[in-house]
Amino acid sequence: MLLGGFDIGGTKCAAVLGIAADGKVEIAAKRAFPTPATPEETIRQFGEAMEALLADAKDAGPLRAIGISCGGPLDSRRGLVLSPPNLPGWDGIDVVSPLRERFGVPVALQNDANACALAEWKWGAGYGVSNMIFLTFGTGMGAGLILDGRLYAGISDMAGEVGHMRLEDDGPVGYGKAGSFEGFCSGGGIARLGRAMAERRLGEGGATAICADAAELDGITAKAVFDAANDGDALALEVVGLVGRKLGRGLALLIDVLNPERIVIGSIYARQEALLRPIVMEELAREALPLSLSACEIVPSGLGEHVGDAASLSVALHALG
Ligand code: BGC
Ligand code: NA
Repeated sequence: MLLGGFDIGGTKCAAVLGIAADGKVEIAAKRAFPTPATPEETIRQFGEAMEALLADAKDAGPLRAIGISCGGPLDSRRGLVLSPPNLPGWDGIDVVSPLRERFGVPVALQNDANACALAEWKWGAGYGVSNMIFLTFGTGMGAGLILDGRLYAGISDMAGEVGHMRLEDDGPVGYGKAGSFEGFCSGGGIARLGRAMAERRLGEGGATAICADAAELDGITAKAVFDAANDGDALALEVVGLVGRKLGRGLALLIDVLNPERIVIGSIYARQEALLRPIVMEELAREALPLSLSACEIVPSGLGEHVGDAASLSVALHALG
């Protein structure tokens, strides 16, 4: 079955074509483009990219549906994107109707984390379970909840906005809130923690492999922190320890409330599992109810770097019911 996907991001967008069959998905073709300045132009460029992909895939059968994955807030029932922080100018934008008119197939919109949860559930590390949570842990921290065998989006598509939960009174800012889950557990949050701790260390006359000198502080990224930690740098390991403990604490709250069978974690966790998992498990043993914890597996994304592409396709499949 031929499915189309539209991934809308703050810096780049993608049109994806995939073939879904037998519990698997194959990404057939993809065209990425930098996110244009206006929503109208973004929708137009997506339409052109999708038409080009379809022209190249004439033998793959008719397009059945298009799924759109975008950061929240949004209104999935009305197909509106509602001013996500990383998409200035997108306020109450109907992305669904213009594409339904242009392509003549069902078109559906979902929160990106929900879309990733659907993808991992249908085709990835969540396959076969009825209760699972997907955590993005990338640029942002968002969750998608599959509960009792269906996506739970909440009354206004806000379920799973876990990045907003405050874990500490103080700490890096995420979602405009100091000490939030996203503040500690996101690419930007880890970079800010690394910067603050490296600055203090350099100020005390010490050294760290995170950065050579004060001139490099502004350029510190989450990747620089993990690279240094993987090389055994003590300060970087301290940053990773803090991030891992906060991740464990956030997971404990989700496990205590929802008693899931599996939690699938993407992006940063999937790449850095060797460093993070032992810290997370130690914190979970301290923080989560033992009976809930023993029933829950914590695993990295099964779709890996493809989860974003598969996410929009899974929304298309979901639209077909
Ligand atoms: C947004 C969520 C999104 C998550 C992952 C958060 O900052 O508020 O809607 O799911 O980032 O992109
Ligand atoms: Na969500």
